[in-house]
This record gives sequence, structure tokens and C-alpha cells, in this order.
Amino acid sequence: MSQNKILVTGGCGYIGSHTIIQIIRNTDFEVISVDNCLNSSEDTICRIEEITGKQVKNYNVDLRDREKTAAIFEENKDITGVIHFAALKAVGESVEKPGWYYDNNINSLLNILWCCEKYDVSNFIFSSSCSLYGNVSQLPVNEETPLMPTESPYAHTKKIGEEIIKNIIHVNNVQTISLRYFNPVGGDYTGKNGENPISRPNNLVPFITQTAAGILPKLTVFGNTYDTRDGSCIRDYIHVTDISDAHVNALQYLLDGKNESNYEVFNLGTGNGVTVLEVIEAFERVTKQKLNYEIGPARPGDVAAIYSDSSKALEKLGWKTKIGLDEMMDSAWKWQLTLNQEKEMKS
Ligand code: NAD
Ligand code: UD1
Repeated sequence: MSQNKILVTGGCGYIGSHTIIQIIRNTDFEVISVDNCLNSSEDTICRIEEITGKQVKNYNVDLRDREKTAAIFEENKDITGVIHFAALKAVGESVEKPGWYYDNNINSLLNILWCCEKYDVSNFIFSSSCSLYGNVSQLPVNEETPLMPTESPYAHTKKIGEEIIKNIIHVNNVQTISLRYFNPVGGDYTGKNGENPISRPNNLVPFITQTAAGILPKLTVFGNTYDTRDGSCIRDYIHVTDISDAHVNALQYLLDGKNESNYEVFNLGTGNGVTVLEVIEAFERVTKQKLNYEIGPARPGDVAAIYSDSSKALEKLGWKTKIGLDEMMDSAWKWQLTLNQEKEMKS
């Protein structure tokens, strides 16, 4: 790969930061980030530097601000690709504050696409989500599976986002890949980076690790009467480093001109459906921690079961997952221990 820049939006966030690390480990690209730290902190940039030994500049800019976003492109005329992670992502919160979700996720996307066109950046990767499939009747889900109605405004922003991209790139030269993630979990193998939500976590695994660490009193399993093997919901948990590696492959695929059309979609999952109770069992076994949990009511908006057929990503991007559930749990716990240590040192 040549020495050009990749702009990562949401680079202080969970998947963005891990992807920056994998880009630096595996390519010669320089990476810059734009993140207003709505759900993160610029400490992450220091963590990236500590892990990779490379400096990464973060522009603390709200992507809804077109002028300030354009100024980043103006200052960095050698951007060859954009990976657009920045978005609000909490399903429940999006039900409570839909306007905020549409405003943030859609206007950010429109601005970044506008900049790509204006500054001739022709490679674009979009963070999409399996949530846009909705309540599907056939599993596993592949890219041809018809989309059912979305269950939340968050999921809707991803569905609309994909539509907007398709319509806009129809008239410009931005080659785009949408990557539909299933459930990213875990942290970098060094234990020095992981998921670090600034407020109470919504996702299962940080909730588990914070409960085991005594930060949260108890985990509630949302429902045990679903039509699944143990009654709890089934998801396709995938290690964040595997997700990050897929972005590196997707970027290379676009740069090599291997894409068959200017818009392609790939699922990123392991193909294994795992129940919530199985995740808890794996966490307890791997980390030797006893988790305080109880069974509670189902969470509104949850689908019973979803997991991926990711064979298209294997065939075209040469990508498949390498990391299993035990390592997902182990790395998530390692990261929680790092956070605990840092907290102790501060107090
Ligand atoms: P995250 O919240 O950790 O990271 C997103 C980052 O974007 C945050 O650091 C936030 O501060 C930043 N951001 C948000 N709005 C912004 C704005 N207007 N301007 C500048 N920065 C802004 O989330 P994540 O888990 O890393 O998710 C990254 C992407 O992947 C999101 O688009 C999310 O919807 C998508 N995704 C996540 C999951 C998941 O379970 N984590 C699953 C599927 C898809
Ligand atoms: C959802 C979306 C995903 C989206 C992500 C962003 C679906 C199918 N997936 O993931 O695409 O990008 O949100 O946040 O819509 N659980 C508990 N107790 C808890 C927390 C979670 O039992 O305290 C259960 C949930 O019911 C679910 C599983 O754990 O079955 C995973 O939940 P979570 O981590 O929140 O992710 P999803 O909702 O699956």
C-alpha cells in the first residue's frame, strides 16, 4: 500500500480505535481521526499511540458541522479513503431520542459524503449494522436476505444511511462498501484497548465485565422465554479485531479496484449463534469470575435470534474470523482489569 492518508471518523470510539490500530499494524497508511468524543474520550488516541508507537491526530469536530469537516479535508489533501464509524449507536436511547439519532447519524453521513465528492476521495467504507435486517424469519442472514421493518430509530438510520449512499454515489465517483456488523465484542490482545463507553453500558459484554468488576451490581438477562435453545436471545458475537481486519481488507479491495460495482455490502459475523446464557457461561469459565445475574423481562426492540452468513466476505474480501468466544471474553476481561488498575492509580 502507498503512503496516503486514511480518515477514520469515530476514531476515539470502540471499533474505530481498534481499526486504526489494525491499519497501522498491517499497512503503511497514515491515519487521521475525526471524533467529537460524544461517546468516547481523546485518551483513546494515547492508547493507540502506546500500542502502535505511531502518532494519530484527532480532529475534535462534530461531523454535523460541514464547514469544519471540510476544513479537515482542505488541510489533508492526501486522503485516499474514509472509514465512517462516527454515529450514535444505543438502540434503547434511539427509541427515547429519535430526533437526535436521525440528526446526528444522517447529517454526519451527508456531510462526509459531500466532502468525499468535493475533495475527490473515492474510497468509502460505511459502518452498517445487522440491526437493519429486522426480525428475519430465515437464519443465517446473508446480504440477499430481504430487510424486514427496522425495530428502532438507530437501525433505521443505518437502513436510510445505506439508501442515501446508494443514491448519492450513483452520481459521483465514490466507491463504497457497507459492512454490516453483527455483535462486536472484546478488546485488543495487549489488554490496552477495549470498549469504554463514557456512561452506563448498554451492550452485553461491557455490562458483564463491569458487573464482574463490581462497578454495576447485577446483570439482567433480558428474557428467557424466547424460542431458542435456552430461552435467551441468540446473537453472533464477533471479536472487534476480526471486524477491524475486515476494514483493512475492504480498503485494499477498493484500492485494488476489485469491486464489481460502486456499492457493495458485506456481512461481518462468525456464523455462530450464541445465547446470552452461553456468553455468561463462557465468561465465568474463562475468567474464573462468578457473575451476579438474574433473569428479567425481555427488552423492547430485541430480536429473538440473528446470526450471519459471511461467506461473501470470505469469497470476495478474503476475510474470515480468527478469534473465538473464549478469547473474546478473555480480552474483554483483560481490558476491564486495565481500566480498574488505571482507576486505582488515579485514586
Ligand atoms: P462508539 O460510540 O464507541 O464510537 C463512535 C464514535 O463516533 C464515538 O467516539 C463518538 O464520539 C463519535 N461520534 C458520534 N457522533 C459524532 C459526530 N457527530 N461527530 C464526530 N464524532 C461523532 O461506537 P462503536 O461501537 O465504535 O461503533 C462504531 C460504528 O459501528 C457506529 O456507526 C455503529 O453504529 C456501528 N455498529 C456498532 C455495533 C456495536 O455493537 N458496537 C454494531 C453494529 C454497527
Ligand atoms: C444491537 C444491534 C446491533 C447494533 C448494536 C449497537 C440487533 C440485532 N443488533 O445489538 O446491530 O449495532 O445494538 O448497540 O439489533 N442483553 C442482556 N442484558 C443486558 C444487555 C444485553 O440480556 O444488560 C442481551 C440482549 O437482550 C441481546 C444481547 O444481550 O440479546 C446483546 O445485546 P447488545 O449487546 O445490547 O447488542 P444487540 O442489541 O444485539
